[in-house]
Amino acid sequence: MSIEQLAEIAQAMVAPGKGIIAIDESTATCAKRFAGVGIENTEENRRRYRELLLTTPNLSDYISGAILFDETIRQSTSDGVPFAKYMMDNGMIPGIKVDKGTHNLAGCPGEVVTEGLDGLRDRLAEYYKLGARFAKWRAVINIGDDIPSGTCIEANAHALARYAALCQEQGLVPMVEPEIIMDGSHDIDECFQVTEVMLRSLFASLVEHNVVLEGCILKASMVVPGTTSGEQVSVEEVAAATLQCLKSTVPAILPGIVFLSGGQSDEAATAHLDAMNRMGPNPWPLSFSYGRAMQAAALKLWSQDLVGNFAAAQKTVYARAKDNGLAALGQWQK
Ligand code: 13P
Repeated sequence: MSIEQLAEIAQAMVAPGKGIIAIDESTATCAKRFAGVGIENTEENRRRYRELLLTTPNLSDYISGAILFDETIRQSTSDGVPFAKYMMDNGMIPGIKVDKGTHNLAGCPGEVVTEGLDGLRDRLAEYYKLGARFAKWRAVINIGDDIPSGTCIEANAHALARYAALCQEQGLVPMVEPEIIMDGSHDIDECFQVTEVMLRSLFASLVEHNVVLEGCILKASMVVPGTTSGEQVSVEEVAAATLQCLKSTVPAILPGIVFLSGGQSDEAATAHLDAMNRMGPNPWPLSFSYGRAMQAAALKLWSQDLVGNFAAAQKTVYARAKDNGLAALGQWQK
């Protein structure tokens, strides 16, 4: 895969008015989401749920691709079409989560590092054969008393850079995700500072590891106050702070930035993205790679009647995709 081909995929992921649906919850995370609405966490229910999301009629109007979990990329629609093939046939790029989750960072209480580098080259080669064209790795940075440490920032940036370089070697576009967690009593300024330090470290590491930025996508968290801070900020303040932070840290040559929703309400996630695009023009397309903010309404509706509400739940997926697709253009109307 040439750099030009990687760049082409990256650009298609952030095509105007389109974004990504993240449906890469691990089996454990899926169990949590299902338990919240009373759905039994069986393999068939997970398959059926992912089928609901991916086969939403006309989803590609607003969705360029989906991030799948290892189990999902090996599953098929009820008609026996592998999900990755179904996606490609319907104009969506298959992606895959390749990290193996977070583990306590030894020597750094309260902090975590993402694992999954061992054997990654072979796993990426297999995912490519299964149809994946981009891969996601999520680093998690917690804010608290005296954290994050420089050690935690560097360890996570280094792992992200090693994974990204391996992805490009194996023909996949890396979607690098350093998530600054919203939980905590920190204010928006502290979130800004931590995000800035993390992104500076990340891009320094990517360059150090010869990652070609033209073939790479950033999945970023927004600059927001901690969930227990009590600080009230407007949509415009979040948008302005996030833009300022990104502009001072992310090279303009990057093909695009997509955001995670991170526990924001559906409406807040859409409103923030819309406001950032209204404040443009920006150096890169800004779009979405939402998990919860794309799925929550559909999951709730589906849980009330797994058979009877299948099509109605798909309508809510389409509605969320449309709202976020319009927000990616700065054209969303509340
Ligand atoms: P949320 O939008 O629910 O934060 O999920 C996106 C994601 O993929 C986190 O890694």
